[in-house]
Amino acid sequence: MLEGLLPQIPTPLTLLGVVLVLFLLYLLSSTPGPGKSPPGPKPLPLLGNLLHLDLKRLHVSLCELSKKYGSVFTVHVGPKKVVVLAGYKTVKQALVNFAEEFGDREIAPVFRDAFKEHGVLFANGDSWKEMRRFSLSTLRNFGMGKRGSEEKIIDESRHLIEVFENFKGKPFNTTQPVNYSASNIISAIMYGSRFDYADPAFQKMVSRANENMRLLGSAEIQVYNVLPWLRWCCGRWLVNRTRSLKNIDYNIEEIMELVQGLKDTLNPQDPRGFVDSFLVRQQEESDHLGSCFHNNNLNFTVSNLFAAGTDTTATTLRWGLLLMAKYPYIQNQVQEELSRVIGDREPRMEDRRNLPYTDAVIHETQRLANIAPLSIPHTTSCDVTFQGYFIKKGTTVIPLLASVLQDEEEWETPHSFNPGHFLDEKGCFIKRDAFMPFSAGRRACLGESLARMELFLFFTFLLQRFRFTPPPGVSEDELDLTPSVGFTLNPSPHQLCAVSRA
Ligand code: HEM
Repeated sequence: MLEGLLPQIPTPLTLLGVVLVLFLLYLLSSTPGPGKSPPGPKPLPLLGNLLHLDLKRLHVSLCELSKKYGSVFTVHVGPKKVVVLAGYKTVKQALVNFAEEFGDREIAPVFRDAFKEHGVLFANGDSWKEMRRFSLSTLRNFGMGKRGSEEKIIDESRHLIEVFENFKGKPFNTTQPVNYSASNIISAIMYGSRFDYADPAFQKMVSRANENMRLLGSAEIQVYNVLPWLRWCCGRWLVNRTRSLKNIDYNIEEIMELVQGLKDTLNPQDPRGFVDSFLVRQQEESDHLGSCFHNNNLNFTVSNLFAAGTDTTATTLRWGLLLMAKYPYIQNQVQEELSRVIGDREPRMEDRRNLPYTDAVIHETQRLANIAPLSIPHTTSCDVTFQGYFIKKGTTVIPLLASVLQDEEEWETPHSFNPGHFLDEKGCFIKRDAFMPFSAGRRACLGESLARMELFLFFTFLLQRFRFTPPPGVSEDELDLTPSVGFTLNPSPHQLCAVSRA
């Protein structure tokens, strides 16, 4: 009895076993294939290149290494061999021209534990293909990129403005309200209804998802992902893993309850959202043996869409507000354009083409914020020879989006905030090829058009109503742009004032 309550202390025999397994893994990962491997720093046995890598700012270490080893290189994270693709040309070529070969998802142990290869984010093969196809077409049916979601976002923007107004120009942390509004857009599409910001169940759900974004990017979980057997000998010390799995379990329970409520009131002729459409399809396929439309895929796909669609959009929007407070002369130009083109009426999507400066500021925010610097890692689906290098089937591949969004050959001032990157000499908006925050190819973000609509509408609604400034006594120079690293790159904790312009 008591034994189970005590921390498990590894015995010398277990440790010896661990060292042997590590050594075997090291030997296996360094076995040469039929061609030359991408170059990289020499790995130490067992540790690999851990001494070259700052796990807290992995993207920075990898960008540095690419200067020395080129645009396709190898690093060993502990015993695990990883191929990194860097720079716009290489990342685009791999993800688009070699879409099949580089198109599988790396399912790191913590995600395998959590999602058991169901859903759309951390799955591969036929099940992933079905879930991705179904998610894309159903999101479109419920208005992704069209009028339907425009109405939902406009409605949510009004709620968000109300919350900001309640602070009466006093400093506050933007995280919670912005997360609530982004999460409510996914809720409206998934369930057909939004939550009240004061609903405690909703608040808990969003805060668990937020906490997970931080935990899943932690050094502890990165170490666990390369040494998953640690859970057998040191499971009790993997506190972030335990906590994040618990958070996911709670959120799945919450989803199951909501799904049950929808099932009880389902009218197949009039689906209210994504879940209803899934339930209808599930009924249609009930006598198909091996159908992918089972409950696990429903629960995990809904959970994935919340996770992928909330923090990403909310974080980007918060970067946008912070950058406006930091660069008031840029905020002036956005507000001048909004006043001139829209005046006092509510913004609509069709205004975007008449707001080139505002559009450029939103794109530049996404470029500089670089919220998914490693994308979400991929794995090779077969042996591949790429740019003369041989890469074995099943090798982890990082498309280093940070190196694309800050590629010195593509951007005039890669490391500073410059909306001019997206404007021609006449001030018209221009698209840039190396703008790839949503990645590319067969695993590219499936919520891109929804995210772009959210960013445009939330940003213009807020900038039309409020002037964003640092708290009293803090200068613009003191606003810190150093990101806080989690699963995504977030602004470091800060407060802003939203001063009403009316
Ligand atoms: C500013 C907002 C967003 C950014 C920057 C972003 C970025 C990304 C990136 C970099 C990936 C990985 C692509 C790859 O593996 O190569 C991704 C995947 C994904 N995103 Fe987004 N995303 C955003 C918003 C959204 C939204 C709103 C949704 C949901 C409606 C969403 C759903 C997904 C899903 C489901 C995947 C996994 C696709 C797959 O594995 O097949 N994302 N996103």
